[in-house]
Amino acid sequence: MFVAELDCPWSESPFLLQGFTIAANSDLEMLYDCCKFVFIEVSEEEWVEYNPHSQAKKVKRIRFTEKQNMASELSDANRTYQAAKTHIKLLLSSVQLGQTFSTVEIQGVVNECVNKVMLNPNAILWLTRLKNSDDYTAEHSINVSLLAIALGRYLGMDTWELENLGICALLHDVGKMSVADGILNKPGPLSPKEFSEMARHTVYAKKLLMERSDIYPGAVDVAYSHHERLDGRGYPRGIEGSKISMFTRIVTIVDAYDAMTSDRCYRKGISSLDALRIINKHKGTQFDADAAQKFIAMIGLYPPGFLLEMKNGEVGIILSHDKGYQLRPKVIMVLDKNKQPQPEAIINLSQYPNDIDGNEYEAKAVFKSGAFGINVRDYIN
Ligand SMILES: [Fe+2]
Repeated sequence: MFVAELDCPWSESPFLLQGFTIAANSDLEMLYDCCKFVFIEVSEEEWVEYNPHSQAKKVKRIRFTEKQNMASELSDANRTYQAAKTHIKLLLSSVQLGQTFSTVEIQGVVNECVNKVMLNPNAILWLTRLKNSDDYTAEHSINVSLLAIALGRYLGMDTWELENLGICALLHDVGKMSVADGILNKPGPLSPKEFSEMARHTVYAKKLLMERSDIYPGAVDVAYSHHERLDGRGYPRGIEGSKISMFTRIVTIVDAYDAMTSDRCYRKGISSLDALRIINKHKGTQFDADAAQKFIAMIGLYPPGFLLEMKNGEVGIILSHDKGYQLRPKVIMVLDKNKQPQPEAIINLSQYPNDIDGNEYEAKAVFKSGAFGINVRDYIN
């Protein structure tokens, strides 16, 4: 019996691995102690909710797994990403010029993104790391859409929900096209007056999207509410928890994560781990607690597309991780212990491989693309 998920964070359980097979009575006893229910994987496509204290209750869950080899999927996913970027840039410039845009094309882009996330979420998470500061608004819109779809999938949403969520996320900041460039790209802190104008991007988006009867209506709510907070201290209305939709809660989390980890003209992006720490600190007040916890688990300590330095000095690019081994990812090794290029080879830390000196590889620290002179973009054909 494979336990895929607990009703509490893994970090608060006595289990070392995220996902494990019950092998002994002692495992069951630990489950009795720490959980009211767990999710048991019963087939390729289905989990059941299992209550160790009484009987099982069946619920359909969508399994989070890789379906294709990571390396071969990256190029394909990258084509989807670049096509999405072209479309969203056109859409944003049309909005800026007060022109109309095609919703059929945008829905097609989002549906393709959903397909790719379903096929290989790790490839998609990798692509969201490839940021080009010149295209911030377009890339941020796509990244928020992809991360929202990936989180929605992780939360067990159906395909049609993911397609609607993807549209909402893609259009969440469309109102920024009505804010003056001087405020949008100001290389320094905004004055109170400028901030209040920037905050109006939510209102501008609401007006713009309400005029379109061919866009999923939930997009209006998400664009209008994605800066609201559960504790009522957000903007523009200061509404509280129960009035904030699940789609908005998801977009709020991934929007904050992508913004915090991006370099901007006025500051450097922070690390993925620091961004996750901030999300964790504000869960329940700014962010939905459950969705935030799931997002932190989904991204993990070793996110695909980041660089990993080993204790022996070698450096690789994180690809993915096997189920149950979030702390032992698969890595393409690219630099040797003297930080010199070495023949690329994939190692899987879950198999406890040894380095050239016979010592077991151990992860030391995670870095963003650009560290050690390595641009992860160069590794996608
Ligand atoms: Fe925004």
